[in-house]
Amino acid sequence: MYEQALKGQVKEVRPLHIGPYRITAPFVGAPMAGVTDKPFRSVLQDHNCPLLFTEMISDKALTYGNTNTLELLDISGEKRPIAVQIFGSDPDFMAKAAELVEKHEPSIIDINMGCPAPKIVRNQEGSCLLKMPERAVEIAQAVVKAVQVPVTVKMRTGWSKGQIVAPELAKRLEDVGVQAITLHGRTRDMFYSGKADWSLIQQTAEAISIPLIGNGDIWEPEDALRMLEETGCAGVMIGRGMMGNPWIFSRLLQWMETGNMPPPPTALERIEQALIHLERMVKQKGEYRGVREMRSHIAWYLKGIAGASKVRSAVNEAPDYDAVVSLLKDYRKRMEASL
Ligand SMILES: Cc1cc2nc3c(=O)[nH]c(=O)nc-3n(C[C@H](O)[C@H](O)[C@H](O)COP(=O)(O)O)c2cc1C
Repeated sequence: MYEQALKGQVKEVRPLHIGPYRITAPFVGAPMAGVTDKPFRSVLQDHNCPLLFTEMISDKALTYGNTNTLELLDISGEKRPIAVQIFGSDPDFMAKAAELVEKHEPSIIDINMGCPAPKIVRNQEGSCLLKMPERAVEIAQAVVKAVQVPVTVKMRTGWSKGQIVAPELAKRLEDVGVQAITLHGRTRDMFYSGKADWSLIQQTAEAISIPLIGNGDIWEPEDALRMLEETGCAGVMIGRGMMGNPWIFSRLLQWMETGNMPPPPTALERIEQALIHLERMVKQKGEYRGVREMRSHIAWYLKGIAGASKVRSAVNEAPDYDAVVSLLKDYRKRMEASL
């Protein structure tokens, strides 16, 4: 069906297979600390995001039973498949953490080998593992042995331009039983700047026989199809392009189903979505935290709408839920009047 609909634009869009899961539309929401919490995941699910990841969760915090960590791990009542991402540097701790995570019945356990943050790298976690391939492989092997669910890895291309490891490391991870790899086409020392190198996504996809999910610089639905086409990857993961923009998934899916690209959301739809998200956030995290944690999401939803910067500043000062709701509703009224 998809081949038909996309004729002339993309040769074909195949389902993404990870272990026992067949994900018909191969588009994935990225794990993002401080962004992909339970309320935002519910918004992404409303927009039919085919596969979601939690925020990254520390192996140590998990094994020490830290209460904030239990909140990060709460995937109860959410649609499957869903992946829980863990990070750490010690194979035994990671195996223990994975066992604890498995009790919450995720579909997939993902290992973070890409986070560039100094406080993570200092502990030999995240992208630091790209400099320690032996350790990276030991961690993956220990986690694979510890759990029944499929284990995947998300990584960057290497530590720096002169130290590219993705194709070789991906192969070694496959050899110890990892069932899919996500590759963000940047090195650690690029952080989030510059352009993701899609040619390394292609090279890595060719080096392995498990699915490679490409990641980096997908802003519009068209970019996702371009990545599939240009790199031959099995799936595409979207990060910053879904912030304030869950429609990127619903538009992609509708495009695949009908052959017609739906228009981007209107200003009214974006304000409406911000209100729904705010309500869920406050319900989940309480008024004080919910109102504060929504500020960045509201800024992303309103980005580019006329008059948004004033509303955003007011939202950032608003003390409680009712105040934010009335700012958004007033804004919606003004937008309606201007139509
Ligand atoms: C605010 C923020 C938080 C992130 N948190 C995580 C995380 O918890 N785990 C992870 O593997 N990657 C994390 N990433 C990286 C993204 O998953 C993704 O690899 C990166 O943003 C590149 O994709 P993009 O160009 O589509 O944004 C984060 C990125 C951002 C901007």
